[in-house]
Amino acid sequence: MDRSENARETVLKASRAYYAHLGYYEDLLAQRERRAETTKRELDFLEFAFRAHATHKVRDVLDIACGNGRHVVGLAHRGYQCTGQDYTPEQVQIAQARAKREGVSVKLLQGDATRLKYESEFDAVLALYILFLLPDDDSVLTCLRQIHRALKSGGIIICNIANPFYEGKNWFSLKSIHQGHYFKEVRVPGMRYISIDRVQDFDPLQGVAWWQETHVIEAPDGVHIFRDHERLRLFTYWDILHYLQVAGFKEIKCYPDWKIKPPKKPKAEMLIFVSRKD
Ligand SMILES: C[S@@+](CC[C@H](N)C(=O)[O-])C[C@H]1O[C@@H](n2cnc3c(N)ncnc32)[C@H](O)[C@@H]1O
Repeated sequence: MDRSENARETVLKASRAYYAHLGYYEDLLAQRERRAETTKRELDFLEFAFRAHATHKVRDVLDIACGNGRHVVGLAHRGYQCTGQDYTPEQVQIAQARAKREGVSVKLLQGDATRLKYESEFDAVLALYILFLLPDDDSVLTCLRQIHRALKSGGIIICNIANPFYEGKNWFSLKSIHQGHYFKEVRVPGMRYISIDRVQDFDPLQGVAWWQETHVIEAPDGVHIFRDHERLRLFTYWDILHYLQVAGFKEIKCYPDWKIKPPKKPKAEMLIFVSRKD
């Protein structure tokens, strides 16, 4: 294994450990708190993008890092044929349990977003909250090329990144990285979730930060403490525009914060890119 392959394996291992441990509690939290509203807003946006950007009616949708399945299960409720995959087997199990609990059929698999084997199979492919977590930029380009291949002609990609120049509070922004720490507390009936994140390393040249994270969860089954290490790539709008173009996408549209009509003063916490395969 060469050095870059070693670095890639380290990121994948850290990411897997993180989502394997926390997935269950995050899913439990998500079921109890306002996050359902966020997912609904994102699902509405996805349907808007399907209608506005694909040349034909979207039916088959692939989500390349589906996590707890909130998008694929939501889209299945809305009548789409969904396939979800995630690198972390524990997340796939959570997504399967969610689909079962909600009585919808979704194909769910374990898989790496940079090893997609599909060819002209999907009307839409989602890469949501994942590009900035991939181990390196080569993986991002590989992933976007494989998504391009997985799409039918006239089908669309929808992907997003966090805006590093966001002025508000979140762990994706340069502001938090310069502060060196980020604290979050979520309280819902019967649960409290505290996350204390500290910047361990930041390379401003390559736009890569390493966060050291401690999560304390008071859940009905006791108190749990997890420690994690996560790599975050601070992509800008121009980076993703460039990578999408290199991957073969031409007309690329960007929507700040899942808004169909850009607001007068966008805060742009998230940048959502939509593009069609010719
Ligand atoms: C921030 S979560 C986002 C999940 C989902 N897209 C959502 O929006 O709720 C990131 C997910 O990416 C998965 N992941 C990380 N690296 C991956 C890879 N190389 N291939 C596929 N999934 C990956 C993690 O297991 C985790 O479930």
